[in-house]
Amino acid sequence: MKLAIFPGDGIGPEVIAEAVRVLDALFFPQLTLWEGDVGGIAYKRHGHPLPTETIEMACAADAVLFGAVGNPECDDLPREHRPEQAILGLRSELGLFANLRPAAGYPGLEDMSSLKPEIARGIDLLVVRELNGDVYFGDKGERASDGGREGWDAMSYNEAEVRRIAHTGFRAAQKRRGRLTSVDKANVLESSRIWRETVVEVAKDYPDVTLDHMYVDNAAMQIVRSPGQFDVILTGNLFGDILSDQASACVGSIGLMASASMGERQTEYGTFGLYEPIHGSAPDIAGQGKANPIAAILSLAMLLRHSLGREGEAGRIERAVAKVVAGDVRGADLGGTASTSQIGDAVLNALAAES
Ligand code: IPM
Ligand code: MG
Repeated sequence: MKLAIFPGDGIGPEVIAEAVRVLDALFFPQLTLWEGDVGGIAYKRHGHPLPTETIEMACAADAVLFGAVGNPECDDLPREHRPEQAILGLRSELGLFANLRPAAGYPGLEDMSSLKPEIARGIDLLVVRELNGDVYFGDKGERASDGGREGWDAMSYNEAEVRRIAHTGFRAAQKRRGRLTSVDKANVLESSRIWRETVVEVAKDYPDVTLDHMYVDNAAMQIVRSPGQFDVILTGNLFGDILSDQASACVGSIGLMASASMGERQTEYGTFGLYEPIHGSAPDIAGQGKANPIAAILSLAMLLRHSLGREGEAGRIERAVAKVVAGDVRGADLGGTASTSQIGDAVLNALAAES
């Protein structure tokens, strides 16, 4: 079993360090850990945010645990050298088209939600976001126009791209509460029209899943109005980026939100994937011990479940985290004063108490 660890920039290294402590506590003698550079730190060391060695390391591993990329010092670099290109490049180079972003409330945390507690209590949804297409990877550029310089980005989806992510969404819904809401903007966009028609076609293979469709503007409203109505939200790259951040505020803090990005490659132990907290590099609090490591620790749990076939350990981590979140060891993002490593200690103690 080989695990590639890419801590990256900002708070990435500090939160990943806590996830690695959890991994060490679980004790996998058969596991080899490799560390690679991504993002601004990789640009500084190698002149590129996604060096070839890093891609090769990811390809040779069974899974990747990823911290975060982004550094304001790199804001003026041309786009191909900006830290964000590391994560976008990994997603496309590794064919990671399916991004799973669960957002579930924790008992005892309703007071931290941006919603009224009785509404926040109902949230238990999974955003299944397409990750290899859309306006993110379409042609883009700058041209002259009558109104001065004009930036443009092409938004497109073809049937094959929609079909494969739709299957992921429907299969996820089968394992959950059997409901899938496909989110698009089919009243305006051609790419969304193809999206919707293709999802309807794929739905025929899943008679046990109830499908409905929502325009993205309505979905944004419904997520804050009554998030409990959603089970699986299936959507494209850009809409999924926005809606998953929104859902995290309903849970209480983006510092709790993990994600899995998967493709088709099967390993000896499961499906190859890249796992990352969705919070990003948060340069304003980097190096101060203020970051919440729970999103990184929960990303590790998803990694163990999906890529290493370790459902038992994944469940143990999730139960330990639920205990900590319900308790009084809280970081600054949840109104407390606990440091990154104190939160890590609390998870380790809860794990030890369980076994
Ligand atoms: C995310 C992030 C990335 C995205 C950025 C860092 C490129 O916001 O993973 O949600 O837009 O996908
Ligand atoms: Mg985002």
